[in-house]
Order: sequence, then C-alpha cells, then structure tokens
Amino acid sequence: MNYNDQLYTSFIKQKIDALEKMTDQDNPYTRIVFSKKFYEARSWLKNEYQKLGLEVSTDDAGNLIGLLNSKTDTDKIVIIGSHIDTVPSGGRYDGIAGVVAALCVVKHIKENDINLPFNLAVYDYLGEELNDWSISCIGTRGMIGALNKDILFRGNSSGEILKDEIDKIGGNSKLLTKPFTIIKNIVACLELHIEQGKVLEQKKIDIGVVRSIPSISRFSVEINGQAGHSGTILMDQRADALVTSSEIITFVNELALRLSKESNQHFVSTIGKINVHPNAAAIIPGKVEMTIDLRASSKSSREQYITELEKQINKMNQSGPCKIEMKNIAFAPYVEMDKELIKLFKESSDDYGFSNIIMDSGAGHDTAHLSRVAPASMIFVPCKDGLSHCPEEYAEISDISKGTSVLFKMVEKLASLNQN
Ligand code: GLV
Ligand code: MN
Ligand code: MN
Repeated sequence: MNYNDQLYTSFIKQKIDALEKMTDQDNPYTRIVFSKKFYEARSWLKNEYQKLGLEVSTDDAGNLIGLLNSKTDTDKIVIIGSHIDTVPSGGRYDGIAGVVAALCVVKHIKENDINLPFNLAVYDYLGEELNDWSISCIGTRGMIGALNKDILFRGNSSGEILKDEIDKIGGNSKLLTKPFTIIKNIVACLELHIEQGKVLEQKKIDIGVVRSIPSISRFSVEINGQAGHSGTILMDQRADALVTSSEIITFVNELALRLSKESNQHFVSTIGKINVHPNAAAIIPGKVEMTIDLRASSKSSREQYITELEKQINKMNQSGPCKIEMKNIAFAPYVEMDKELIKLFKESSDDYGFSNIIMDSGAGHDTAHLSRVAPASMIFVPCKDGLSHCPEEYAEISDISKGTSVLFKMVEKLASLNQN
C-alpha cells in the first residue's frame, strides 16, 4: 500500500471531513455516545461498511462491526477498531482517525482482491469516551465481560439507564456477564490513534508503537454542607460545600504532583467535572459532586495516592463542617501490549522507512481492555501541539496515512504468519 497514493489520502480526508459535520452545531466537536448526532454517525458508518461490501452487524455490547470474510473457511479474526464518539467540545481525530484508517485498510484489501487467512473486522467500539454514566469503553468492557450490574443499571443525569441505551442501539445487555466467544478466535486487535501528547511531534517521529497503557481509576466525591442565605449566615457559621471541595481539589493536585515525581512513571490526576448545587450567586453552596480521574502506571503509587486521599477525607470529615463521601466508580488496570505484536508493528514501520519509537500511552484506549483477553497492540501518529479533547485537535492527513499503511503492513505480516 502506497501511503502517498492520493486514492488513500483523499479517502481519509473525505471521511474525516464527513464525520466532522456530525456534531452538535453550537458546540463543535460534540458527538456524545447515544446522542442524536452519534446515531447519525453510526448510520453513516453503516453505509460506509456497506459501500465497501462488508457484512454489517452490531454485537451484544453495541459495537458496530463491518466484517470482511476470508475466502478460506476459518473462525480466526483480526480486529481493527477505534471509536467515533467524542467528549464534549472534543476533536475531529481522537478515535475517528483509527476507524477511518481501518476503513482505508479494508478498501485497499478489497480493491486488490487480497485474500486473508482470517476474517478481518472493522469495529466502532461503543462509547469509548467517559460519559454521563461515569464509564468509558462500554463496548470493549462489554466484550470482555467487565460490565457488571452496578454499571449496567446506572442512570445518567436525565435518569436514562445505561443498559436500556445499549439495548436500543442494538446490543443485548442481558448477555454481557461473561467474555464473548469471539475472543478465543482473535489473532490480533489493532488500533491506530493520534498520540494526544507531544512526544512524536517534538522528536519528529512518524510512528509511536505503544508498549503500555496506564491504569485509570475514577472516584465520585459528594460533599454535603448546608445551603443558606449568602447575606445573613456569618463566615464562621457556614458549611460551604464548595469551599470544602476546593480544599480537596488543591490536595489532589499537590498529592499527584508529589507522587508523579516520586514514581518516575506516568502518574496524573485531574478533577475536571464538578457540579455545584444550587449554583446560584446568592446562596451558600449546599452540595457539590465531583469526579476524580487518576492515571497511573505504578500500582504502588496508585495505592499510596488512594490511602493518602482517604486519610485526608477522614480527617476533613472529623474536623470540617461538611460530610464527604468518596466512591470508586470505575477502574481499568495497567496493561502492556502484546510483545510479538509490538515487534511486528515496529518491523511494519521499518519496512516503509518510517521513524518510530516504542512509547507508553498517557490516555486510555479500548485496546487496553481487549489486551486483557487477547493479543492486542496499537500505534500512535503525531498530532499538533499534543492537543486533544479540545476543538483545536489536529493531525496531518499525511501522518494518518503513514499510520494506515503500517496497519496494512501489519495485517499482511499477520497473514503470512497465519497461513495454514
Ligand atoms: C480517553 O479518551 C481517555 O480519557 O483517556
Ligand atoms: Mn480515543
Ligand atoms: Mn478521547
């Protein structure tokens, strides 16, 4: 596959441009899982699958699959997937580049009538981004049997239950209690993604071959104080939930800064979501809800963070005016990508003469979940200024095209390794 071929670069550009239009108009680029725009993008993708002659289906976890069947009778399967949902006011490439690259690989294989000794599937994994149900990677967690009742029966802020949304989109939430049978047939799960950081751009490297993905923990914190009149309750008589929250925010930031230095491995923590009640200028905040996001490659640093944070919250509960409750609402463990696939991805990149490095991911990905049950691996391509999860997110089509050709080369290598 010639990565410079205009046939491919214009295909990639055209598909990214098409998806970019499916956004909440006043809030680009927003295509939240299960929203109207998400459904619109899913029908668009279904149509793209059909145009490529793929067999279309939705699995029990709500993943949208386009399947290219091998001419050889086999159950073996290679999956190339990513996601088309976005965060609120997100970008045009996060996840999208990976799905479009997968379409492009299949286009090349179809047009050149290449027969593979395995079936090849393009996956749009359902709802990779963190959503209003406080869970990310719905589709891949579903595939590996990691969506428990607590998660499935959760309601969002409008009272919609997650399992009902999965069923509406074509999944079957009753069948998500154990890993899917397809898993035993997986030869490899592959994903192309923009880096979402600055390493490749700064080092002028074409391809990042991913070695590891950090653990992700999310905690909900509820702070209950007492709402009251902002003009009459004196300063030393208050139980202001927002003031107590600000102490937690500062504590979390300082703790993460210290542990990131001590750990020498990827360690970051963020409080990016906060709801203040009743959120009115003349009322003392009575209640605050917030979500803590923690990413750590080191298990001991992660445990230390949780111990110190719990200790601080206990202390504040004993001596402060508010009642604080913290709950663990989501967890994905630290994972390493399959070593053989890392080697093959590196060789695929070398074959094209692309510069490459082995690197660790800072973000979470669907491939992290799949790597717990099947051989899985991913590559990164550069993005401008490392920006992601914001409208400024940008990646050069030529860079995505290079990554796409590496994906194709990888499929070719897997094919020769899996000939009977
Ligand atoms: C995925 O986008 C993440 O939050 O890492
Ligand atoms: Mn992503
Ligand atoms: Mn993302």
